[in-house]
Formats: sequence, structure tokens, C-alpha cells
Amino acid sequence: MWQMLSPTALLLLVSAGTRAEDHPKAKVTLDPQWNRVLKDDEVVLRCQGSYSSEDHFTQWFHNGTVIENQSSSYSIAAARVEDSGVYQCKTALSPLSDPVQLEVHTDWLLLQASRWVYEEGDPIVLRCHSWKNKHVHKVQYFKDGRGRKFSYQNSEFHIPKARQEDSGSYFCRALIGPSRNESSKAMNVIVKGPTIPPDSPLFPSWIQVTFCLVMGLLFAVDTGLYVSVQRDLRNSMRDQKNVKVTWSRGS
Ligand SMILES: *[C@@H]1O[C@H](CO)[C@@H](O)[C@H](O)[C@H]1NC(C)=O
Ligand SMILES: *[C@@H]1O[C@H](CO)[C@@H](O)[C@H](O)[C@H]1NC(C)=O
Ligand SMILES: *[C@@H]1O[C@H](CO)[C@@H](O)[C@H](O)[C@H]1NC(C)=O
Repeated sequence: MWQMLSPTALLLLVSAGTRAEDHPKAKVTLDPQWNRVLKDDEVVLRCQGSYSSEDHFTQWFHNGTVIENQSSSYSIAAARVEDSGVYQCKTALSPLSDPVQLEVHTDWLLLQASRWVYEEGDPIVLRCHSWKNKHVHKVQYFKDGRGRKFSYQNSEFHIPKARQEDSGSYFCRALIGPSRNESSKAMNVIVKGPTIPPDSPLFPSWIQVTFCLVMGLLFAVDTGLYVSVQRDLRNSMRDQKNVKVTWSRGS
């Protein structure tokens, strides 16, 4: 039984051990916050992580490949389409961050959002961004083809508290310069309802594994007990017979 258990038990011990001494993952943030930008926009990627006294370098990855710069922020002065892709960073003490996606588009107008997936109650911020911040006017935001907001000067479209009905396909339209009538590509905004995911584990998986092991162990012990009790019972019944036999013989 121990031999059967040991690899799993070892695994549990090992994962518990590493978890205790882990630093949290490094984190990439974008400044400004938009993950979709236009060609020639300026973007600064910052890496949040822990450094050790000897090692204060940051390692950056673009599309999984190491890039040269080793400072905690990586600045792109004028974005090119090739700067698109996923960015990750790590520091001496913080393991590799989750990937952050940057999209560089070549369009006149671009719809930007603080995020594309929201929880109910979150503030939604949409922005109609023009190439090289060229002057725009008569700016309109559309949801599912219907006008939702109009302003003579460019302004962001704010929804203070997102509701599920705010989910949909959004784009913006504006006049650039005196009369260039342009539309952005449409983007989906998703507002998730209050969720009690039925399939999400109530307990961390290691508790479940332990639970299964303990149940298995109990079952094995139980079966063993049952077998031995039965054997004892049979033995004692045979003994009783023997006793009877002896008795009848004796009388
Ligand atoms: C990378 O680092 C060098 C100097 O270390 C700097 O001149 C260059 O602008 C940096 N590039 C980016 C994209 O941050
Ligand atoms: C990174 O990947 C993106 C998307 O797949 C691509 O558009 C971009 O050109 C790639 N850039 C580099 C430098 O690999
Ligand atoms: C821009 O063009 C659309 C049709 O493509 C038109 O409905 C709209 O009124 C135009 N906007 C302005 C401000 O002229």
C-alpha cells in the first residue's frame, strides 16, 4: 500500500514545498492601458516583479523570444505592426508573467477599451482613437449598429456600471480633418453575469486528491477488516462445532 501511495504523496509534498517559497509571478502592464493601438503610437510596457540585491535585471520576451532590453520598462516610441504579439517578463525572484497581448493596427480609427470582458457592475471605458491623434469631430459610438453616443468633439464613451445588456458589437465613426468620414472596425464587448460556476472545484485539487486517497485507504482497511472478521467468524464457528463434537463425544 505504501509503495502505491508514495509517488502521489511525494508529488503532494513537493508541490506543497515549492508553493510555500514561491514569489508571485511577474506582471506586465501597458501604459497607456490600451492593448490595441495604431501604428506610430507610443506604448510603454512595465514589468512588476521582485529583484534580488545582486540581480536587478528584467528579462523580456516577445512572442516567446528573449529581447535585448533588461530594464523594468520597455518603451516603444512609435509602434510598428511587427511589435504586435505577446509580451512576458520575469525578474530574479518573480517567475515568468502571464502573457499580455499587444495589437498594432494600420487604420484611421481604432476602438480601444479598458478591457473587452467585464463583470457586471464594472465601469466600461471605450475610446475612439485616430491615427497620430489627428483631430476628429462628430464622433459617434455604435452598439449592434445603433448609435449610442454622439459628441461634436472627441470624447470617451463611459458606462459607469456594466450590465449584461451592454454586451455587444461596438464601433465608432468620426470625421477626420475637415470631412474624411471614417469608421473603426467593430469589437465585441462581453459583460459576464453573476457566476457561480458549477464545475469550479469547491476545494483546491490537492484536497480532492487527499480525500480520494483517504477514502481509498479507508475502503482498503475496511475490506481487510471484513475479510479478517469473516475468517475469524468462520474459525470460531468451526471451533464451536469442534467444541460441540468434543462435548457430544464427552457426554
Ligand atoms: C533598449 O535599450 C537600449 C539601451 O539599453 C535603448 O537605447 C533602447 O531604446 C531600448 N529599446 C526599447 C524598445 O526600450
Ligand atoms: C509576433 O506575433 C505577432 C502575432 O502573431 C506578429 O504579428 C508579429 O509580427 C510577431 N513579431 C515578432 C517580432 O515575432
Ligand atoms: C458618415 O458616413 C455614413 C455612411 O457611411 C453616414 O451615415 C454618416 O452620416 C456620415 N457621417 C457624417 C458625420 O457625415
